[in-house]
Amino acid sequence: MNYDSSVLSVRYPDDTRHLQSEIEGTDICEIGRSFLGSALSQSYVGIYFLEHYVEAKRFQYVVEFGSHAGAVSLYLANSAAVSQRFYFDTYELYPQWSWYAGSDDHEWEVSDLYGWKGWNGCGPWFEQLSKISPFINFHHADGLSSESIDHVVGNISDKKTFLFCDGGNKVDEFNTYAPLIKKGDCIAVHDWDTEIFEHQIQDVCDEHSLQPDGHWAEHHYKLGTGIMPFVKV
Ligand SMILES: C[S@@+](CC[C@H](N)C(=O)[O-])C[C@H]1O[C@@H](n2cnc3c(N)ncnc32)[C@H](O)[C@@H]1O
Repeated sequence: MNYDSSVLSVRYPDDTRHLQSEIEGTDICEIGRSFLGSALSQSYVGIYFLEHYVEAKRFQYVVEFGSHAGAVSLYLANSAAVSQRFYFDTYELYPQWSWYAGSDDHEWEVSDLYGWKGWNGCGPWFEQLSKISPFINFHHADGLSSESIDHVVGNISDKKTFLFCDGGNKVDEFNTYAPLIKKGDCIAVHDWDTEIFEHQIQDVCDEHSLQPDGHWAEHHYKLGTGIMPFVKV
C-alpha cells in the first residue's frame, strides 16, 4: 500500500478559489450547474442518461461537438479511459472562452450565464488525462470542418458510434453527420425543442433512415434531459 503517514501533519495552504456567495433556490434537475467542479450545460440527469446509454448500447466511439468548459468531456473521457471500451473525441472551436476558464490567458464569456464566472474550465486537467490514456482526445477545431469530418468518419467506419451534437449549430451538426453514420450508430442533439426542432432535420431523417431511439428518446420528455437520441435503422 502506498501510504505516507507524514501527510497527517501537513497543513494545507489557504489557496482554494473562494466564490463570492452561496447559490440559493436551485433545483437538482436544472440544466446548467456544476459537475466535476466545473460548469455543466446539462442537468445531472443528462449525465446519468449518457452513462446508461453508452453502457447499454456498447458504443466503441463517442464524439462530443462543443466541449465548452469540458465537464461532460471530462466525464466521458474518464469513462472511456477507465472502461477502455470506447474512444472519445471532443471538439471546441473557442477554447479561450470556457475550456481554459480560470487560467491566466483565457477570455471570460460575454454573459455570466448561470453564475459560472469564477469557475475553472476542465481543459488543463483534461489535457493531462489525454496524455496518459490513448482513449481520450480533444480538438480545438471547428467540428464541421472537412478535417474534422474526415477524422470522425474515418473512425466511424469500424466502430459502433455515438455522436453528441452540442456545439454552436446543432442543426448543421446533425444534418452533416447523420448521413455519415452507419446502421446501428446513434446521433443525439441537446436542447431538443428549444434550439433544434423536428422540422429542421426531418428531411435528413427520412432520407437516411434515422428515427428517435426508442425508449431512450422518451427520457427527453420523462426526465427533462433536453437530449434527443436518434438511431440509424
Ligand atoms: C452548449 S456549449 C457545449 C456544452 C457542453 N457540451 C456541456 O454539456 O457542458 C456549446 C459549445 O460549442 C462551441 N462551438 C461553437 N461552434 C463550434 C464549432 N463549429 N465547432 C466546435 N465547437 C463549437 C462553443 O464555443 C461552446 O463552447
